[in-house]
Amino acid sequence: MGVIGVGYVGLVTAVCIAHLGHRVVCLDVDEAKVAALEAGRVPIYEPGLEDLMAGAAARLSFTTSYDELCRQARILFIAVDTPPSPSGDADLSRVQAVVREVRRHDGERLLVMKSTVPVGTGDRITAELEAAGHPGLGYVSNPEFLREGAAVDDVLHPDRIVIGAYREADGDEVAALFADIETTVVRTTVPTAEMIKYASNAFLATKISFINEIANVCEAVGADVRAVADGMGLDHRIGPHFLQAGIGYGGSCFPKDVQALKQLAGNSGYHFQLLNAVIEVNHLQKRRVVGKLKDRLGALRGRHVALLGLTFKPHTDDMREAASIVLAARLRDEGARVSAYDPMVPPGSRDDLFPGIEIARTALEALDGADAAVLVTEWPELVGLDWAVVRDRMRGRHVIDGRNVLDAARVAAAGLVVTGIGTADQPAGEPVASDDVR
Ligand code: UGA
Repeated sequence: MGVIGVGYVGLVTAVCIAHLGHRVVCLDVDEAKVAALEAGRVPIYEPGLEDLMAGAAARLSFTTSYDELCRQARILFIAVDTPPSPSGDADLSRVQAVVREVRRHDGERLLVMKSTVPVGTGDRITAELEAAGHPGLGYVSNPEFLREGAAVDDVLHPDRIVIGAYREADGDEVAALFADIETTVVRTTVPTAEMIKYASNAFLATKISFINEIANVCEAVGADVRAVADGMGLDHRIGPHFLQAGIGYGGSCFPKDVQALKQLAGNSGYHFQLLNAVIEVNHLQKRRVVGKLKDRLGALRGRHVALLGLTFKPHTDDMREAASIVLAARLRDEGARVSAYDPMVPPGSRDDLFPGIEIARTALEALDGADAAVLVTEWPELVGLDWAVVRDRMRGRHVIDGRNVLDAARVAAAGLVVTGIGTADQPAGEPVASDDVR
């Protein structure tokens, strides 16, 4: 087995497949990354990955050489980046570079696409391979559905495995690799497998933007979005997941994939209206926090706002499309002094993303003298802060719960005013008024 590209998806896939008992050669063009991996160091933060990698070390090797990869491996998983291009389409240049490299090596091989690629990519690559007289390369689409922070569990205990193939035998070969995983295996054509991936991410993003809009209406009419989501989620046709209102989705996948599906539809002559709204709602949701701060503090010039959490979600060190980036820049533009703390972002490490923002070593240091605090990322250590101590360190009393995860009664009992998303403010020191689903 070979895995090309050892980013999040590639490395987790490689380690999990090695854990299942297969021998895996991993290739990356980044020499420093390969050297670190060879020395047993995991270059990303992903719970459980380091232990699993140590346990499977005997079956894992790393290289920068396609000669070595092709000598050892017949089934080649492609897990390179497909970042957005300036037009919003997925940029496939890295995928194409991989196919070119593999094509230079003779022999029967099976390319298995893990990278998220636009529908039609498999058809195009296969046609190019045939035109170039390289019939020995088979092609299977096997999209991944792992979440950062829960990636190992998502690979080893997935809701489903999707395998799209041109030849039945190629699909069988990939299915056999995952034979020890108990789950539903969906066998389809290649374009359908490619679409399942985009449609899944776009649907989850739609759920988030939908509940965020419901939250915004709840604020206007005096309802509580958390209870609304609980009440909705009990309907099995709706389900309880991805109905957590907040300051919008981020990360390396939803923003990119929703945009790419919109582009793909447009390129095929279809105007995907719903996705336009999903994207716009998500942009506006981050900015609403600034409005909430202005409502509570007045003009923000000279005010001190502390951001708690910077990564796009907890249990990852990933900053891609994090709401904190937009929020920090907007607050700075308003003339606020901004301090921040994140367990994964040491002081001075991300001046590129947060110019002019003071990154503190601890949450309390960031909160020192702040007029208001915004919980941006629901890291457990931030949710579990001792709010009485927080109150003593802050100058002001306002806490914006950007993820609706704080125990408003506990925080308010400490003398702070809690403002959630789609919920009524919880005044300091007063008993909680809550809607309970019993
Ligand atoms: C997402 C999908 O969940 C995976 O299934 C998919 O494989 C992956 O993209 C991918 O395409 O590679 P991920 O980006 O790691 O995974 O993170 P999620 O846990 O899905 O969260 C995405 C964003 O949505 C986060 O910013 C999170 O805070 C936000 N979110 C999530 C909400 O605002 N509300 C929710 O109810 C759920």
